[in-house]
Amino acid sequence: MDIMGALLTAEGRDDPYPLYDEALRLGPAASAGDDFALVSGYELANRILRDPAFGVWDHRLRAKTWGAELMARPSVRSMERSILYSNAPDHARMRTLISSVFTPRRVSALEPMIEAAVATLLDRLADEGADGAVVDFMDRFAYQLPVSVICDLLGIPEGDRETFRRLATQLAAVLDFFDNVEGLDPADAAWLELEPYFRTLIAERRKRPAEDLTSALIAACDADDARLDEAELLGNLTLLLIAGFETTANLFGNGVQLLFQHPEAADDLRLGTARYAGFAEEVLRYDSPVQLTTRVALSDGLMVGDVAVSAGTEVAILIGAAHRDPRRYEEPSRFDPRRLDVNPLSFGAGAHYCVGSVLARTEAALGFPRLLERFPAMAAAGEPTRNDRLVLRGYSQLPVTVV
Ligand code: HEM
Repeated sequence: MDIMGALLTAEGRDDPYPLYDEALRLGPAASAGDDFALVSGYELANRILRDPAFGVWDHRLRAKTWGAELMARPSVRSMERSILYSNAPDHARMRTLISSVFTPRRVSALEPMIEAAVATLLDRLADEGADGAVVDFMDRFAYQLPVSVICDLLGIPEGDRETFRRLATQLAAVLDFFDNVEGLDPADAAWLELEPYFRTLIAERRKRPAEDLTSALIAACDADDARLDEAELLGNLTLLLIAGFETTANLFGNGVQLLFQHPEAADDLRLGTARYAGFAEEVLRYDSPVQLTTRVALSDGLMVGDVAVSAGTEVAILIGAAHRDPRRYEEPSRFDPRRLDVNPLSFGAGAHYCVGSVLARTEAALGFPRLLERFPAMAAAGEPTRNDRLVLRGYSQLPVTVV
């Protein structure tokens, strides 16, 4: 059965879990035709992600394999020089530099801002949801919090944030698994608006540095040893905007929907018999905001589990399947916020491990408890709408009542 093809259908995107079970039954890895392999087992996924013999689709590999039409797409170009799409040695050079300015200290410094943003959003939800009015949790909270945080981090002015949210959502389609190029039209349009905006922002911060990550990156980029060139600066700023936005929104949306489906978990959290940190990890495992990533075999003679692969073979790592691997998790289909030793692969592993994991976990740690305390009667108000993506799994609308 063509599991990957089935995952890409509307039904597969809506509920990939039966297909993941199929993949897991085939073993930790399976060949999926010429030059394509699937990994569903947790241990193997973790191993391949950490193995430097498998790289990401960097601009050199893309140029060899992808057609000119796809390569020329504005959205495809937008982040091609970022760390997410770079291999050694470029990756380590850029990653060291980004990590030196996007530090856990910078994230800690954001905590008061995150707390204030949560409080403002909850006040607004209370107003809009007074008298049992239905509000869309995605629109009014899940997307708002990460967009405020990322814009604050990067120094995007308040007035531009709604536009940013729209453009970031459109551009995020390029992070998904795209099997038809036309699907990228809105993402292309978004990048054509975002590129000049970013170039202006960079020029302004270069003249008048501020206390934001953009200025810090520019300073590092302009340092004597010029460790980041202009295309890399632009690509990485864009990545920081896009990578942490829809993913974190989906952590909130998927988490709230799971609470509706498992009211006993909400009671446990309120009573303190389950911990919020454990809850967030279990949400990440059970319905991961990132379901899949890919790697490419960089040389011949490599093995993906029992599958022999040659240079150029694409390996789809099914993170969502790895999280349901019965060899790794007891009763993997059970949602259990008290589960220990979860260690989800939602943030990846190895060299490309998510730069924003501390920030995303901080937002969850500050957001979920306030939400549950403030709205003990929050309830689902109709069917949620999925965002119809495969990689970035979440909802576009999640109607709720808060009183
Ligand atoms: C729940 C929220 C998030 C999830 C699930 C998530 C997931 C991931 C995953 C799976 C990767 C690795 C992709 C791969 O190996 O192919 C990644 C990388 C990355 N993430 Fe996140 N992310 C989240 C939030 C954030 C935030 C808040 C930021 C920044 C503000 C961010 C920035 C990045 C960057 C820059 C990379 C590239 C790292 C590299 O290639 O070296 N992410 N993320």
